[in-house]
Amino acid sequence: MIKKTILSGIQPSGNLCIGNYLGALKQWNQMQNDYESIFLVVDLHAITTNQVPADLRNRCLSFTAQYIACGINPEQSKIIIQSHVPQHAELMWVLSCLTYQGELSRMTQYKSKSKNLKNINAGLFTYPVLMAADILLYQADLVPVGSDQKQHLELSRDIANKFNLDFNSKNFLIAPEPLIQKNFARIMSLKDGNKKMSKSDPSELSRINLNDNVDEIFNKIKKAKTDTQPLPENENELASRPEAENLLGIYSSLNDQSIKNTINEFSGKNFSEFKEKLASLVVDKISPISSEIKKLLKDEKFIDEVLNNGAQKADKIASAKIKNLKKIIGL
Ligand code: TRP
Repeated sequence: MIKKTILSGIQPSGNLCIGNYLGALKQWNQMQNDYESIFLVVDLHAITTNQVPADLRNRCLSFTAQYIACGINPEQSKIIIQSHVPQHAELMWVLSCLTYQGELSRMTQYKSKSKNLKNINAGLFTYPVLMAADILLYQADLVPVGSDQKQHLELSRDIANKFNLDFNSKNFLIAPEPLIQKNFARIMSLKDGNKKMSKSDPSELSRINLNDNVDEIFNKIKKAKTDTQPLPENENELASRPEAENLLGIYSSLNDQSIKNTINEFSGKNFSEFKEKLASLVVDKISPISSEIKKLLKDEKFIDEVLNNGAQKADKIASAKIKNLKKIIGL
């Protein structure tokens, strides 16, 4: 049986955090056995905001090490730096000629970014078309993403369908299905239970990074925002207590148990007691990953090999796809 392909990617900005681990990498790790898997470090997306060149390059290597430390097996799955495969940008141009300006201006991520940023460049606007190119280039069937990316994925589907229709080439581009997993908690900022934990949040205290040491982890959890009540007795209370919900969610996700079980374990207890347990659990789960990251980062040759290998395999798929695409559209 031919395996279906999954594809996902993360922007190399900031530091990978437990939000990325629990919301993406842990899930990728579990899926890679059942699917052809492609995991991208999307550096071309990252340059829609200002980057320090040397930092960007280092972060691409470090993200690769972090993917592997989280369990992505580079012999089984392809780990690819987006800019190593020029066909992403080539396909993007073609797809952008099939995408209406009106569609892009309705993207909520664009709308919120362009409200907050000073540098509103054309790349920020066409960002979802590049994402569509990432996905359609490799004929990905399934794309595991957070709910914030669902609209971009819908756009990828629309672009694929429009291409096939316009050029009378049924199934040449495969409309991908989103995979928004519900049993993985959406991890929120440690400083604000209503805001997503983000690797690019300026506040270090808002997140646990995958390379944080034991002291940092204990300190950040100690300082995490809570309310003044003891831990909730039941799930109904969570709706009005976002910080409690988030911390209980982190505990449950890391320990692979339902939030209900976690509530039963800690109901009525004080936050200080729960936070001790939570910090120990985070250390237990994250320390092996952070020491693996350190070890991998010392072996630059290995990381280079992984990336060269990924780029070579990607190029095979991508160049065949672009060759056929050019035939279809008359280039
Ligand atoms: N846009 C995604 C994000 O900001 C990252 C991304 C780029 C992506 N290309 C992708 C995700 C392809 C899934 C598939 O999170």
